[in-house]
This record gives sequence, C-alpha cells and structure tokens, in this order.
Amino acid sequence: MSGSSLSPTTQVLITAGPTHEPIDAVRYLANRSSGRMGLALAAAALHRGWAVTVLLGPSVDSPLDPRLDVRRFRTSLDLQRLLDETFPACDVLIMAAAVADFRPAQPPQPGKLPRSHRGLTLQLEPTPDLLARCAEHRRTGQTLVGFALEPRDRLLADARAKLVRKGLDLIVANPLETMGSDIVEAVVLTAGGRESATPGPMPKSDFAPWLLDLIVAWRQQRGLASPRQPAPTRR
Ligand code: CTP
Repeated sequence: MSGSSLSPTTQVLITAGPTHEPIDAVRYLANRSSGRMGLALAAAALHRGWAVTVLLGPSVDSPLDPRLDVRRFRTSLDLQRLLDETFPACDVLIMAAAVADFRPAQPPQPGKLPRSHRGLTLQLEPTPDLLARCAEHRRTGQTLVGFALEPRDRLLADARAKLVRKGLDLIVANPLETMGSDIVEAVVLTAGGRESATPGPMPKSDFAPWLLDLIVAWRQQRGLASPRQPAPTRR
C-alpha cells in the first residue's frame, strides 16, 4: 500500500496534548497526556508532503519544523474555538488531544484560592464533545479519526460504541496505559466494521505512519484519494 498517495494539498488537522481547565489563577484540572502521539502523527503527515495544522495543548513543547502550522490552546473552550476556525477547511481530522471530560462549573476565581481548614468542594460540569460536534458539521469528503482510551477488558466494545456515538470514520482503541507512554499497542476500528491491530507494542513514531496508511486506505476506498486539487490558475 502506498502511504503517500493523498494529494499534497490534503489538509490534515491534528489535535494533541491535554487541556488545562482553570480553577483559579494558578491551579487547573489536567491529565497525563504528553502530546507525543499527535506530534508523531504530524511529523509523519509532513513527511508525506501533506499540509498539516496542529492544535497543540499546554505543557507540550512546540515542534520546530517551520512547515507545521501550529496553534496553541489551553482549555477545552480554546480548542473548541480553534476547531470552529480550522475544521471546515480540513480533509482529515485526527483528534489525538486528551480533552477534559469535566471542567469547573464556575469561571476561574481571580487570584489564588486561600487554603481553608474546611476543604474545598469543586462543582464540575461536562465539557462539550468536540469531536461529535465536528462530526455533526462535517461536509462530504471529510474523514474523522478519534482515539478511545479504554480499560483492556472493554477495549473493543467501548471503542466501537464511541465510534458510532461520535459519528467517526475510524477510531484508535488503546488501553489506558498508552497515555503518557512512548509505546502504543492499538486496534483501529472503522465505521465499515474492519479491525486492524498493531503487530505488537510499537513506538509512537512507528505507529503514526501505520495509522496514516489506514486513513489513506479508507479514503481511497471512497474515492477520496485526492480530495483537494489546487485551484485552477486563471489565464
Ligand atoms: N473528545 C472530544 N471532546 C471531549 C472528550 C473527548 O472531542 N469533551 C475526543 C477525544 O479527543 C478522543 C475521543 O473524543 O478522540 C474519545 O475520547 P475519550 O476520552 O476516550 O471518550 P469520551 O467521549 O470522553 O467518553 P468517556 O470519557 O465516557 O470514555
């Protein structure tokens, strides 16, 4: 299978890293995501000559490659706004960001909350499902790829349910230990019912081109190999 057979003008949008949901001026709710998966995917997509935009979370170092269009987010709301701007133009969205599921229901306290012997109760509210939101607004020809982090004993069943619930084309099912690790062992499920397992545990830098091959194959089966031709030049 040729891994570089999407048009160089294919716009790939990749999200990476955690979100930080502020509690006050110095504290936040976060998760262990390192952003390495999304950055490995961005490097592999660039290597194929695709146009890549990366939406990158906090505490992840910016990649140095000047060909990458990198935009930073901190909170799930920042990411939501960036997706509103960038999703309509992309052909492929790979949502590797670990978006917080909950955030403080109150706006962040100004300054630093003082320590109190009475303790502190935080009221949390669910964040919107950003990927499902993109799927609702998708146009023909867009491919949506999600990640599902699940306990091993429910890996495939839960990932399949998520693929359907969120309206995705592909979902990468990986066990909880993948977050923050350099190694990934995953099964990719498609909306067409196919399952492809990695040959074993592999570094994220090897997993990235393997996943891109599956995305290319999915698009080729739908006649989407060259989704965006350059605009014709005016005479
Ligand atoms: N995701 C999202 N918006 C959220 C939460 C998750 O877009 N508010 C995306 C993630 O980027 C990932 C996919 O949805 O690509 C699955 O994320 P996951 O945390 O596994 O699933 P949840 O929808 O959060 O469901 P649950 O926490 O119940 O497993």
